[in-house]
Formats: sequence, structure tokens, C-alpha cells
Amino acid sequence: MTRPKLVLTRRWPEAIERRLEAEFETILNPDDRPLGPDGLRSALETCDGLLATVTDRLGPEVFAGLTPRARLIANYGVGVSHIDCDAARALGIAVTNTPDVLSDCTADLAMTLLLITARRVREGEAELRAGLWTGWRPTHLVGTKVAGATIGIVGFGRIGQAMAARARFGFGMEILVYNRSAVPAGILARFGARQVGGLGALMGAADFVSLHCPGGAANRHLIGAEMLAAMRPGAFLINTARGEVVDEAALAAALAAGRIAGAGLDVYEHEPRVPAALLAAPNLVLLPHLGSATAATREAMGARVLDNVSAFFAGAPAPDRVV
Ligand code: DGY
Repeated sequence: MTRPKLVLTRRWPEAIERRLEAEFETILNPDDRPLGPDGLRSALETCDGLLATVTDRLGPEVFAGLTPRARLIANYGVGVSHIDCDAARALGIAVTNTPDVLSDCTADLAMTLLLITARRVREGEAELRAGLWTGWRPTHLVGTKVAGATIGIVGFGRIGQAMAARARFGFGMEILVYNRSAVPAGILARFGARQVGGLGALMGAADFVSLHCPGGAANRHLIGAEMLAAMRPGAFLINTARGEVVDEAALAAALAAGRIAGAGLDVYEHEPRVPAALLAAPNLVLLPHLGSATAATREAMGARVLDNVSAFFAGAPAPDRVV
């Protein structure tokens, strides 16, 4: 019996690549160069399953006029806003993702950004390395206290809840939640959290705002000039969700004007491009999309893709099917 043919768009953890090769006809990408729109189209025309990542812009242009051989796009990651899911559905292509396994590490990174920005870690290290540290003094690099502060969590799915656990049980923070649908009372009670009706109310009441909602058209520029203006002057914005959720120009302007105290970003609207205005903005920590980047989690994500691919091609329901 012929084995389904899979194309990996990037290099994956080696152990997962070996497992895929053992089960499927597997085309690897040893050079780790993104395929680009033409490469993605040709992969969809010639393979049974495309094993994609967030770096593959599978937008309408990739699907237009396509006669795919592929029946599955198995995404290595939980967010699927880089995939035109309607176009995939119309062509009879299923889409799966990898929820759960990256929630802890993504929340860890969000808390890392929160602490680095609040406690001025980068400035302190740069000063010391430059030989400019003159010694301890009561007024030196004074930051913002995290313990007991109020955090506003936008999006209360798995990652938002993992962030709430860290904030509540690690730092005794008060938790406000903004979520499209009502969060069950039992889940809120677990974190002593309170759901607010409007995003503006959360922005105005939080010392830290951390974004954990999906990206895509529905949430594009959810945090723009108006919401930034609603934030407390001493507040911080943290984004480990998707770049398009924040209007980057508006954020750069708010930071330059000292409207908010600082921000930490792990994701950008047009990755890997980071706008010059952000690079120049003060009190901003920028990371290169590292949310899930630990060895354990990257392997777990690969294993989750493998579970989906194996089930799908065995004719069973794929456990994490989104389309
Ligand atoms: C995710 O899983 O969505 C990560 O951001 C990587 O794509």
C-alpha cells in the first residue's frame, strides 16, 4: 500500500522528523527556507498532507484556482490565522492545529516579558555591561511592583488561563478578564478572576494588559489608539498572541509620547519584519516569536501533529481538527 506523502515546510525537531519518515513518505526541508507562495501551491498540488507552520502565509492567493492533491494541512502551532481556513474548506482540505501542549511555555514567556519590562531588566543589564554602574542607590532604575498588581487578560482560553495561574498563584495579582463569550463562573473562581463587559473597562483598570486572544481579521488592531489611550499612564502591554492584534504604529506612538509605561512583544503583524517605529520606541522589549520555543514543547507540538496526521490518514477523526 502506498504511504501518504507529506511535505514539511520547515525543519522540525529531529526525533519527530524520524517518526514521520518511519510512517509516511516524508519530504523534509533540511535548508529550513520558507517555501513561499509558489512553493506552497506546488506542495499542495503534489502531496497528501502539508505540515505547515506560522511562517507559511496560506492566504487566498495560495488557494486561488488550485487543484490540490492535499487533503490535510496539519499546522505545527495552535494559531491558524495565517491560513485561509474558508478557502481550505471550500477545496475539501482539512486543517488541524496543536492546542494545549504550548500553553505553559507561552504563558511563561508572557510572564517573562511582563517582569522584564516592569523591572527594567534590559536597561540594568546594558548599564552594567557598559561599565556605567556606579553602585546601589535608593533611586537607581526604579521599576514597577508586580506582586499584588492588577492584570487584565484579553482572551481566556487555555493560554490566558495559564497566564492567570502564574499571575494569581505566583504573584498574588488581581485578575480581570475580557473574553468574547461568557467564561463559566467556576473557571473564573479558580483564579479569583472577574470578567468585564467591555475591553475599554479592562484597559482602564489594569496595571498590566496581556493579550491571549486569537489573531485574524476579527481581532486585527483590536488594540489601537483608542484602547491604548484608555490604559493607565503607568500600565504595560504584553503581546504573545498574534502581531495583528496590536496596531504597531499606534503602540509606537503611545510609547514615544509616554502614554503608557512600557510594552513587551513576542509577535508582529508582518513577521519577521519589525517596523522601524517599534525598534525606535522607548520602554519596549522585543522578542523574536519565542512563545513555544522550548525543546520539550517543540517536540510535544510535533508529536501532536503526528497524532493528527496518523488519525486522519487512517480514516479516523483527527483529534485537533479546526476545519
Ligand atoms: C502558535 O502555536 O500559535 C505559536 O505562536 C507558533 O505558531
